[in-house]
Amino acid sequence: MITGKYPSLRLRRTRKYDWSRRLVQENNLSSSDLIYPIFLIEGKNRKQTIKSMPGIYRYSIDQLGIIINSVIKHKIPMVALFPSTPNSKKDKFGKEALNENNLVCKAIRFIKKRFKNNIGIMSDVALDPYTSHGHDGLLKKNYVINDETNDVLIKQALIQAQMGCDVIAPSDMMDGRVGKIRKYLDKNKYHDVQILSYAVKYASNFYGPFRDAVGSKKSLKSNKKNYQMDFTNSNESLREVALDIKEGADMVMIKPGMPYLDIIQKVKEHFKIPVLAYQVSGEYSLIKKGIRDKLINEEAIIESLMCFKRAGASAIVSYFSLDIAKKLES
Ligand code: PBG
Repeated sequence: MITGKYPSLRLRRTRKYDWSRRLVQENNLSSSDLIYPIFLIEGKNRKQTIKSMPGIYRYSIDQLGIIINSVIKHKIPMVALFPSTPNSKKDKFGKEALNENNLVCKAIRFIKKRFKNNIGIMSDVALDPYTSHGHDGLLKKNYVINDETNDVLIKQALIQAQMGCDVIAPSDMMDGRVGKIRKYLDKNKYHDVQILSYAVKYASNFYGPFRDAVGSKKSLKSNKKNYQMDFTNSNESLREVALDIKEGADMVMIKPGMPYLDIIQKVKEHFKIPVLAYQVSGEYSLIKKGIRDKLINEEAIIESLMCFKRAGASAIVSYFSLDIAKKLES
């Protein structure tokens, strides 16, 4: 690999000028690589701040037009929708997940009607925004039961597809759910709805601000270690992805993001499929705080996103997406 040596070879030569650095640049970041998550809230004319995530808001449906317009204008291909469900609508079964008039369903209908196919919509399949205990599935003796949960998830997925969702994203980590969802969608003639599986989702400490944003933080008593992956493991990620591909996943997500670049690279090298990364809420809030406190400068955001590309990610879900898409244009 090394074709010369110092002093005849000086790697700093190509780094000397901006034009030269650009010439040998190996990776690139564009708006098309970004997915923008949007938090939803009930009511009218609301844009509510989220204490744990400065710069991010919960929007009522009537405010979505403004934000989606901006997302499209800045060439971001897809948004991901997350509801903040009022406690009065949560129960231990997460029944609200199957309500055609829940926040996510209403938002999907609104966006599709107004913006047609000028933007992709992705929505999570999991019960945690709707359960009083904050877990992603049904509980029996304090344990999330797999197969019974799958029976609900397939219905949740179908309803979202019927509303017009383009990309169904199971984020629950139940075994076998991708295959069951694919089958159920196909049976109901939704062959063209994509599945983006959160195939590799770790039981992470970086989800705190998100749980605050969707209001599941206070309700969640324990952790999610008996269904989300153990962060000490790497090879297990290949087994998770292999299974989900067999079951029909079109794309897979690795989550969290930056501390897991090794996993992104490994999965990409192994399977050569679209691998997406989720720069999660904890990563966002830490970087944001670092910038606000002047510990790091704003360039750190682009650096963090570029690292995902370097690791092999096709796209990144990031709360910075809109700000960065604006910046990439200028
Ligand atoms: C829940 C879900 C979580 C996130 C996305 N979907 C949290 C969790 O598993 O508890 C986290 C996203 C983030 O932290 O930004 N199914």
